[in-house]
Amino acid sequence: MEIISKCIRSAFLVSVMFLTIVSHAVAYDSFDPNGRINIKWDVLSWTPDGYVVTVTIINYQMYRHITSPGWTLGWTWAKKEVIWSMVGAQATAQGDCSKFKANIPHSCKKTPSVVDLLPGVPVNQRFSDCCKSGVMASWGQDPSAAVSAFQLSVGHSGTSNKTVTPPKNFYLLGPGPGYTCSAATIVPPSVSFSPDGRRTTQAMMTWTLDCTYSQLLVSENPTCCVSLSSFYNPMITPCPSCACGCKDVNNNCINDSKDSRMLNQKALAKEDASMLQCTNHRCPIRVHWHVKANYRAYWRVKITITNFNYLMNYTQWTLVAQHPNFNKLANVSSFVYKPLIHYGSINDTGMFYGIKNHSDLLMEAGPEGSVQTELLLGKDMKAFTLEQGWAFPFKLYFNGDECKMPLPDIYPTLPNSAYANPISSSTLATTLLLSALLVFLCSCH
Ligand SMILES: *[C@@H]1O[C@H](CO)[C@@H](O)[C@H](O)[C@H]1NC(C)=O
Ligand SMILES: *[C@@H]1O[C@H](CO)[C@@H](O)[C@H](O)[C@H]1NC(C)=O
Ligand SMILES: *[C@@H]1O[C@H](CO)[C@@H](O)[C@H](O)[C@H]1NC(C)=O
Ligand SMILES: *[C@@H]1O[C@H](CO)[C@@H](O)[C@H](O)[C@H]1NC(C)=O
Ligand SMILES: *[C@@H]1O[C@H](CO)[C@@H](O)[C@H](O)[C@H]1NC(C)=O
Ligand SMILES: *[C@@H]1O[C@H](CO)[C@@H](O)[C@H](O)[C@H]1NC(C)=O
Repeated sequence: MEIISKCIRSAFLVSVMFLTIVSHAVAYDSFDPNGRINIKWDVLSWTPDGYVVTVTIINYQMYRHITSPGWTLGWTWAKKEVIWSMVGAQATAQGDCSKFKANIPHSCKKTPSVVDLLPGVPVNQRFSDCCKSGVMASWGQDPSAAVSAFQLSVGHSGTSNKTVTPPKNFYLLGPGPGYTCSAATIVPPSVSFSPDGRRTTQAMMTWTLDCTYSQLLVSENPTCCVSLSSFYNPMITPCPSCACGCKDVNNNCINDSKDSRMLNQKALAKEDASMLQCTNHRCPIRVHWHVKANYRAYWRVKITITNFNYLMNYTQWTLVAQHPNFNKLANVSSFVYKPLIHYGSINDTGMFYGIKNHSDLLMEAGPEGSVQTELLLGKDMKAFTLEQGWAFPFKLYFNGDECKMPLPDIYPTLPNSAYANPISSSTLATTLLLSALLVFLCSCH
């Protein structure tokens, strides 16, 4: 029995490692199978030379939000359309409107780019769910803040559902790259309720598209790493060296925050403002998982998220964690926890995020640059063990990006345990081979 359970655990760790490797290559996220940003155009009325349309952007991603400076939505008009006017957002360029004499359109660009307005614009430029500087919460954190909308009046286009062609080549920045948008498809017109819920109205025509995120489109390197420790072993397992890439020439670092003041202006001029504190891992974010205590019916974990970027405050951050004992999470301090039930019923994954005005801001690197929580987990007596790294998480994501874990062979081990001697080599290939051998031996019994 003993050998078999060892084998199963080794095989499990191997499969977790393998899945981690594979999952970097695909956009599909099993913890958030419906994760996407949906963009819907509802034509509300026809005009003599076009239509008035409401564009609604909804972030259905459970734990990836759009931070400052916000989203940019772009497309290519199918014909010779112009934007007469817009409320709740604006085109970033007017383009060449020299053909127009009396009425000058808002934008004549063939490929307009649209951004949200800033809070505090006058009432006559506003629209519902607008004017948040393009910032959108994740669906898991706050669905009511995961929506952005604006309205535009389109001219020089078709004027019926038979002659209007939806725009093409949609793209979305959120605020950086990473999103790929589908083509727009014409769907049955949307029906919406009046505010009192006693009457419905129907759009003249509706089209919709989805944009999905892939971390690989942004960078080959992770943006976050994991370190581990426990009450039963003084050894700390650090983040893997160069977890977020040391070769990257842009990934320069400084040791002293006094230097950062000098470099501030320089770096702020660049679009991607990042100035990291020097570490072995070179990650902007480290998540530390500490197994803090073991009681009769409970055990305690402390999670600390540390920011190493001098030029970034993370607002409305999210942390996703997977651990088999999360089905018995009894108490969470300082953070909010929401289970993410995947594959229909497996309750081993959830998202954490900060409490409003309390822990939802992860400050720039420095003395204030961390947030932490303590979890109290009820023991499942059949599964609980401090052996073989069981008490450590399988996966962690910060703001939707997967964090680089240390290899299992250097996890903190129990003193005097059979597993106290770490597997001699730390190369992945060797670990895989050894574990495969264990599985093989196991199947022989
Ligand atoms: C177009 O509008 C007509 C009515 O004007 C309606 O009967 C038809 O179903 C609409 N077609 C689409 C694709 O919405
Ligand atoms: C930071 O400090 C480490 C150790 O003191 C040193 O090796 C490294 O060169 C320093 N890096 C910079 C950019 O100053
Ligand atoms: C982070 O927030 C603090 C307090 O609001 C502010 O003083 C600091 O300048 C901000 N840092 C950055 C990099 O935006
Ligand atoms: C999942 O686990 C949490 C506690 O960790 C619990 O509150 C919740 O009810 C569980 N949900 C299901 C569907 O089992
Ligand atoms: C949960 O944690 C809070 C704050 O740390 C504490 O006041 C409360 O008693 C705890 N509840 C349980 C059931 O341990
Ligand atoms: C958070 O702080 C802002 C301003 O500091 C305040 O307007 C808001 O009501 C606060 N929200 C909560 C939930 O305390």
